[in-house]
Order: sequence, then C-alpha cells, then structure tokens
Amino acid sequence: MTKVNITIDGQKIAARPGSTVLEAAQEVGIDIPTLCYHPALPPEGACRVCLVEIERQRTLQPACTFPATEGMVVHTCSEKVVEARKFVLELLLSDHPLDCMTCEMNGNCELQDLAYEYGIKETRFPGEQHTYLVDDPNPFIERDYNKCILCRRCVRACSYMNGVEAIGVMHRGFQAKIGTAFDGYLEDSPCEFCGMCVAVCPTGALTPKQRKGKGREWEFKKVTTLCSYCGVGCQIDLNIKDGRIIQATSHWDGPANHGWTCVKGRFGWDYVHHPDRLTKPLIKKDGAFVEATWDEALDLVASKFREVKEKDGADAFGALSSAKCTNEENYVMQKFARAVMGTNNVDHCARL
Ligand code: SF4
Ligand code: SF4
Ligand code: SF4
Ligand code: FES
Repeated sequence: MTKVNITIDGQKIAARPGSTVLEAAQEVGIDIPTLCYHPALPPEGACRVCLVEIERQRTLQPACTFPATEGMVVHTCSEKVVEARKFVLELLLSDHPLDCMTCEMNGNCELQDLAYEYGIKETRFPGEQHTYLVDDPNPFIERDYNKCILCRRCVRACSYMNGVEAIGVMHRGFQAKIGTAFDGYLEDSPCEFCGMCVAVCPTGALTPKQRKGKGREWEFKKVTTLCSYCGVGCQIDLNIKDGRIIQATSHWDGPANHGWTCVKGRFGWDYVHHPDRLTKPLIKKDGAFVEATWDEALDLVASKFREVKEKDGADAFGALSSAKCTNEENYVMQKFARAVMGTNNVDHCARL
C-alpha cells in the first residue's frame, strides 16, 4: 500500500495510509501529549491537549483526529503549540479539586503527569467549580465527577467495548456531566460493572472501591495472569502489595480480550483471600468433615474409583472436566479416564 510522506518536527516519515498525525508520530517515537485519546477506543477530539501546528492550516489542529496527508509538515512542540497546551491544561485544572495528595490515582494520573510536564501549579482562571456529591452505593466503582475532565473515554468504552451504553454526556457547557439516564445510580442503569470505564479513565474520577486506601500505584507489583472464571482465557494484571491482591487491571495485549473484562474478572478475585476458603482436603468421618492429608485424600479417591470399576465395570465411571482448566489439565483428565479407568466417558462443561 502506498505510504503517506509527511514531516514531523523535521523528521521525514512514511506513514500508514489512513493514519492520523498522532499515530504517524507514535510510530516513530515522537511524543504528543493526549488525554481523551486511548488506543483501544475510536478518537474523539474532546480535550485539545494534542494540538499541533500544521503548515498551511489556519489554526492549531488536534493530532488525534487530523488525518496525515501527503506532503504535510507538522510541528509538535513549537512555542505556539506549547502555549496552547498550557492554556488547555489550565482550563481543565480551573475546575479540578487538586487533591493529588489523597487521590487514588496519584502516580497513575495522566492529567497529573501533564501538569507536571508543563509546570502548571495554578490556574489563571479561578472561577466557579463543581461540587458534585460522591455518592453511588454500588460495591465496585467510586464515581467522583469533581475530577472528571469530560474526555468521554468512559462513554466510548461503555459503548464500543462493552456495548452497553449505560452512561453518556448529560447537559452541555459548564453543566455537562457524565451520567446514567436520569443521572441515577449505576445499579439502577443497564451497567454490567465490567469496569472498562474505570480502566480507561485518565484521572481519579472513576476508581475501584476495592483498592481505596490500600496502596499507591508504585507499590503494586503487576502479575499477568488468566482470569479463572471461564474458558474465554481473558488476561488480567493482578496488582499485588505485601502478598495480597489489591485490584485487577486490564492487560491490553491479551489476545482473547484485548484489555476487556467482565465484572468477575475485574472485581471478583476477593475469594482468593477469603478466610472460609478450603486450603486442606476434608474427609467425611462419622457424618462430619475432618481435615486430612493429601495422601489420605488421594488414597481414598483411588480406592473408591477401583471399587466402582471392579463392581460395575469401567463404563460406570465418567470424567467431567472444565473449560476453566488448562489444555494440559484437560488432556491429563481424558488420558486418565481412557488409559487408567478404561472408559471413553469424557465430557466437559464451561461452568464446572
Ligand atoms: S485526578 Fe489526578 S490531578 Fe486530579 S486530584 Fe487525582 S491525581 Fe490529582
Ligand atoms: S462498568 Fe462497564 S457497563 Fe458499567 S458504565 Fe462502566 S463501562 Fe459501562
Ligand atoms: S469519568 Fe473519567 S473517562 Fe469519563 S469523561 Fe470523566 S475523566 Fe473521562
Ligand atoms: S487527545 Fe486529541 S483532542 Fe484529546
């Protein structure tokens, strides 16, 4: 396919046809700041922090939506561009609580990072600020719209990734706000609590309730793993601190899910540390379960299997495995049924 030849900051680039200025720059490692852009979502052009100077264009243009065209010459960090970005950041921060000290997103906030990069300590535009109640009784998602920058990433994630459209932009101008229909609670909306809105939010407006007060971003060790709930094979990153899971975050390169999760994968891992969880085998003796060693438990199971086979024949035995197991585990299960028990009664169920 014929490439599109453009120049960004003096560097000649053969861009993919159909790519935006931002994508062309990213492909060669030129950094253009963004807030409403997310690689997993369609571009929106809402925040204007990615403004660049394009020769022969009357005004600055958003790199995330502007298509790269043949012969285009782009400047990403001219004086005019930097001034415009600072202006945009100051406007965003003019209606922002600036409580980074206690914000769950401190250290993982794209707005904070840009304010730091552009040296914005205060805004020249003090004025009216929103004071929304932080009030949603759902068990999973804290919604603090005082920290919302109206980038609409959450709205796009809900619509394009989860296909639910539980949230949208209500009102316009200064009154604009993200909300469900009639501005109710998430529980009263079609929300499925997949958490994708939380995963893409660039600020502390949407955060998981489970992680509240449990640690700072830089204290978490991220361990990529497979969700254990079903056979789809979604990858997630478990965030670990002091040997305990604090939260599950999107693993964007997961081939089965590309960052998406359902409510179970995102929020349903607390069983791991539940005190009622069985950690030792139990054998029923005199009508009550008592703790046993693994050797005792396995010997008992083997003797019962032998008893069934000797009394009623191999086909009295059947093996049910699960799509939640690995291929290797399922292979071993059918091999055991066929080679050890002598039956082809093998099946599986995704819900086991
Ligand atoms: S959302 Fe970001 S900028 Fe706002 S208070 Fe939290 S860390 Fe600070
Ligand atoms: S949790 Fe999922 S379904 Fe609910 S609002 Fe967020 S993206 Fe939409
Ligand atoms: S809640 Fe977060 S993702 Fe949604 S518009 Fe506000 S800042 Fe953007
Ligand atoms: S990142 Fe381009 S307008 Fe927001």
